[in-house]
Amino acid sequence: MAATAAALLLSAFAGVPGAAAAAGPAQQSRNASADAPYPNLAPTPPMGWNNWSYYGCDISENDVLSNARKLVSSGLAAKGYDTVTTDDCWMTHSRDAQGNLVADPQRFPHGMAWMGEQLHALGLKFGIYEDAGTSTCGGYPGSWGHIDQDARLFASWKVDYLKLDGCNVPGVSGETQEQVYHSVYSDMSKALLATGRPIVFSVSAPAYFEYDTPDTWHKVISWSGQVGNLWREGADVAMEPASARTKWSSIKYNYGYNVGLADLQSPGRWNDPDFLLAGQSRLTGDEIRSQMSLWAVMAAPLISSADLTKAAPEALSVLGNSDVIAVDQDPTGLQGRIVQQGEGYDVLSKQLAGGERAVALFNSSDQARTITTTAADAGLPAGSSYRLKDLWSQRTTETSGTIAANVPAHGTVLYRVRTGAAAHTAPATTVSWHRTSGEGTDSAWTVSVADHGHTGLSGTQLEFSAPEGWTLTPSHARLGYIAPGRSASVTVRATGPDAAPGTTAATLTATGRYHAGAAGLRTVTGEATTISVVPYPDLKSAFNNVGVTNESAPPAEGNYTTGNFDCAGNSYSAQALAAAGVTPGAQLTKDGVSWTFPDAEPGSADNVSAAGQVIRTGGSGSALWFLGAEAGTVEGKVTVTYTDGSRSTGDLGLPNWCCTAGTEYGAVTVATADHRNTPNGPANFGGGYKLFGNSVPLTEGRTVESVTLPDEGAIHIFALSVH
Ligand code: GLA
Repeated sequence: MAATAAALLLSAFAGVPGAAAAAGPAQQSRNASADAPYPNLAPTPPMGWNNWSYYGCDISENDVLSNARKLVSSGLAAKGYDTVTTDDCWMTHSRDAQGNLVADPQRFPHGMAWMGEQLHALGLKFGIYEDAGTSTCGGYPGSWGHIDQDARLFASWKVDYLKLDGCNVPGVSGETQEQVYHSVYSDMSKALLATGRPIVFSVSAPAYFEYDTPDTWHKVISWSGQVGNLWREGADVAMEPASARTKWSSIKYNYGYNVGLADLQSPGRWNDPDFLLAGQSRLTGDEIRSQMSLWAVMAAPLISSADLTKAAPEALSVLGNSDVIAVDQDPTGLQGRIVQQGEGYDVLSKQLAGGERAVALFNSSDQARTITTTAADAGLPAGSSYRLKDLWSQRTTETSGTIAANVPAHGTVLYRVRTGAAAHTAPATTVSWHRTSGEGTDSAWTVSVADHGHTGLSGTQLEFSAPEGWTLTPSHARLGYIAPGRSASVTVRATGPDAAPGTTAATLTATGRYHAGAAGLRTVTGEATTISVVPYPDLKSAFNNVGVTNESAPPAEGNYTTGNFDCAGNSYSAQALAAAGVTPGAQLTKDGVSWTFPDAEPGSADNVSAAGQVIRTGGSGSALWFLGAEAGTVEGKVTVTYTDGSRSTGDLGLPNWCCTAGTEYGAVTVATADHRNTPNGPANFGGGYKLFGNSVPLTEGRTVESVTLPDEGAIHIFALSVH
């Protein structure tokens, strides 16, 4: 989904501000904090599978069971992924005559008790989703007013794990929202306990306070550790239809809010930054290994959300890396912390049983880099030698104290480190690239090989490679002997072919070969990334469609979802836009500013999400006007470059395409379509799907050369106009 954080915020508080005070749920105690903590039913972080991030509401018992079978047949279940949770939308819209929840007869024709039996027969645990409010986030009956009844029903179905979400929790007269959440989650905690069945309790309350004051957020997290075993404390990770970019940003975002919460975690009480996306589309191997590494170092629950029956072998082996799982599940049960941080990278260290440490070198940037720390900074005791096991490459090396690696863009190197290394362990080495001049398709670098161990490197050679069309001069170099603790380097020039419009990244690789005493012949590689940004000649060549579909085509020939404006399969209707005067190539004018609507056929994939594209733009004036809309609620930075090389910046936000006043961020409404297309055809009549205008100021008297669009996927831009 676009702008997950903002979307969650909106859905979280829908109905809360100004909501009529309702009667509280059946309460056994208002003084929950005085009670004993919920039993420690999850001594190590829970592991398993949940359908939500991949399937959303589009689930069936077959989907759940085929994934459950795959957990078993792939060996993942035996490695700990043993809890299978059916998320939202498993039920019908109303309770039965006795007030019990009812499984959706289409999606779960055999019912939920049967589902539990199947999972138990596979040796798995049965997880289910409900909500503490009046309805779930998906609009199904919530547990509000039915807490004890629902707990008993789940226990009768032999549920082993409950995820209790926190959408639509009403206000209660005389109580803060924090008190209402505390009370209803305590009630469920006690109701689960009263069933006598051990049910792991996943509390979503803190996620609904992520944007509250830090004090309130932390308070909710603290009591979540009293009433339950784990808690979601922030935004959802991206859903399967999202772009590669959105998924990667959501992994970084969730890591970002979770990593600072180590003080609020304790063994058996887990922060939950949401699902593992390995096995979903579009993420690279480096990205899924990063997520797995970071989640493991943070002792986060490892809950996969993907169609494992179709997942690539690489994704299954990332989820199934026993060494990484062991870091997550370490009996010490402590969340790792950042021990060093710089522009584009973090170093994390997690204490492990037996005095060992897991050390993660996380490159959050778009360029390969060498990340360097020390055993002392990572919290290891003083020593003359340390053993480093790289948990992804499985290579073991020895260092006298420097812990370093060349890490690809978006990658993480995860070491298990202990004091003392066996004799003849190969020395830890790195190949690093340091840019000395140039960028894009012509750059110069110093490439060095460093020896961090106790054995010298003899006969060291470097060989360089780059993508087709590139030249690296020289193509190889002899560095000879490198003494322990020393490095040697060579200067390299990299030239590449003219890049096409857009942003093109090229990876330059250096492979070092050397003899390391008794450890024999060894290799080490290091990468650099060089990025060329060539402006698109116009907006049209950067984008070719605006999320519009043709409603006169029957859904069977369906271009409904290909117009996908909002990542949920919805699009503008070409017919509804035409009725508002918006047709391909039309001139639209508002308050004297004119734009040309894109001359694009409805029904091809939407790609008008702004993502930092640079567009060549002529003209001079006092403002640069944008025509567009958002599938979110964010502002982003626009940079204008003038022909004299100077720059100016401005903030750009456009209202959400639907259902807003249309004046947010100072925007104006340019056109209003009466309805939109959903995956099933025209719908939401009277909803008002709009196009907006908004501007950033220009430096007067200068001529615009190019504009860099905001790097915000929720912002969709259809046309530009200098005025
Ligand atoms: C919220 C939760 C998600 C999922 C959906 C279901 O957004 O955070 O994990 O359970 O609700 O509607």
